[in-house]
Amino acid sequence: VLGCEKQEPLRVLVTGAAGQIGYALVPMIARGAMLGPNQPVILHMLDIPPAAGALNGVKMELIDAAFPLLKGVVATTDVVEACSGVNIAIMVGGFPRKEGMERKDVMSKNVSIYKAQASALEQHAAPDCKVLVVANPANTNALILKEFAPSIPAKNITCLTRLDHNRALGQISERLNVQVSDVKNVIIWGNHSSTQYPDVNHATVITKDGEKPVRELIADDKWLNGEFITTVQQRGAAIIKARKLSSALSAASSACDHIHDWVLGTPKGTWVSMGVYSDGAYDIQPGLIYSFPVTCENGEWSIVQGLKIDEFSRGKMNATANELAEEKSLAYSCLA
Ligand code: NAD
Ligand code: LMR
Repeated sequence: VLGCEKQEPLRVLVTGAAGQIGYALVPMIARGAMLGPNQPVILHMLDIPPAAGALNGVKMELIDAAFPLLKGVVATTDVVEACSGVNIAIMVGGFPRKEGMERKDVMSKNVSIYKAQASALEQHAAPDCKVLVVANPANTNALILKEFAPSIPAKNITCLTRLDHNRALGQISERLNVQVSDVKNVIIWGNHSSTQYPDVNHATVITKDGEKPVRELIADDKWLNGEFITTVQQRGAAIIKARKLSSALSAASSACDHIHDWVLGTPKGTWVSMGVYSDGAYDIQPGLIYSFPVTCENGEWSIVQGLKIDEFSRGKMNATANELAEEKSLAYSCLA
C-alpha cells in the first residue's frame, strides 16, 4: 500500500493476549481493522507466566501470517516491558465468568489486576495513551485503573460497551430483515452488565424512502420495551450457555470498532456507545464510568447532548447507575 511506509508505527498493547479474545484480536489489529489499512503497528502482548508458552505460540503465528502492517511483536510476562511506549492499550487480561455467574462475580480477582497495571501504564505508556478496558467488570475495572493512574487524563480511559451497541444493531436488523449497516444510533446506557439499558428511542434505519425511526418501523412497543432489551442485556450469558465460553470474536471485533472510531472519528450523523468517565451529563453522577452515546473527532470523544429522555428510560438509566455505584464500593472493599 503506497503511503503505508510513511507512517510511524503505533504501539498497541493487548493484555491477556494468550486468551480467547486476544487470539481473535491480535490478527485483526495486525490486518488494520483497528487503526486503518495504512497504519503500521507494533504489537505488545502481555500475559501471566503460566500462559507464557501459549503467548509465544501466538507470536510465532503472527510472524507466520506475514502481515504487511505488522512491524514488530513484543510478547512478554513483564508488565513494564509490555506497557513501555504504548499508544493504545487494550486491557483484556483477567478472568472471564462462567455459566451462572454475573460479571461482578469476577470482581475481586479482576479489580486487583487493574489497580496493579494502572501504575505501570501511568509510568511507562506514551503520555497520550488511549486505554480501552474489556475485562469484566469492564466499567469498574476501568474506574479502578483511572483512580490508580491519576496522571492519565480521565478522558483517555474507557471501557467496552460497543459489543452491546453492536448486539442491539444486530437485533434490530434481524427483526426488520434489513442490513445491519443501515441501522444506526441505538444507545447503550450504563453498565456492561444485565442492568444496561439498550435504548432505541433515537435509532433510525435507512430505507429506500429515507431515514425512518426504528419506533415507526417496529410498531411493537411490547417487543421494543421488553424482549429486545432483555435479549441484549442477556446476550453475553446466552453466548456462554451456547459456547461454554464467553464471547470472543464479537468482543474482539467490537474492541476494534471502539478504537477505530475513537481515533479516526465517527461518521457524520452517527453516534456510538462508549463507557466513559461521567461528567454529570444526563444527571448521571460524576465519578462513574458509564456508557453514553458519543461522537468522536480528532481523537476525542464527546457525549451527545440534548437527547430527550422519557420516564421509562430515566428509570432504567438510574438503575444501571445505581448498580455501578454499588460495584464501585464493592471494588474498593475488595482492594482494602
Ligand atoms: P481468557 O481466560 O480466554 O483470557 C484471559 C487471559 O488473561 C488469559 O490468557 C489469562 O492468562 C490472562 N491474564 C490473567 N491475569 C492476567 C494479568 N494479571 N495480566 C495479563 N494477563 C492476565 O478470557 P477471555 O474470554 O479472553 O476474556 C477476557 C476478559 O474479557 C474476561 O474478563 C471477559 O469476561 C471479558 N469480556 C468482556 C467483554 C466486553 O464486552 N466488555 C466481552 C467479552 C469478554
Ligand atoms: C459478554 O458480554 O459477552 C462478555 O462480557 C462476557 C460475559 O461474561 O458476558
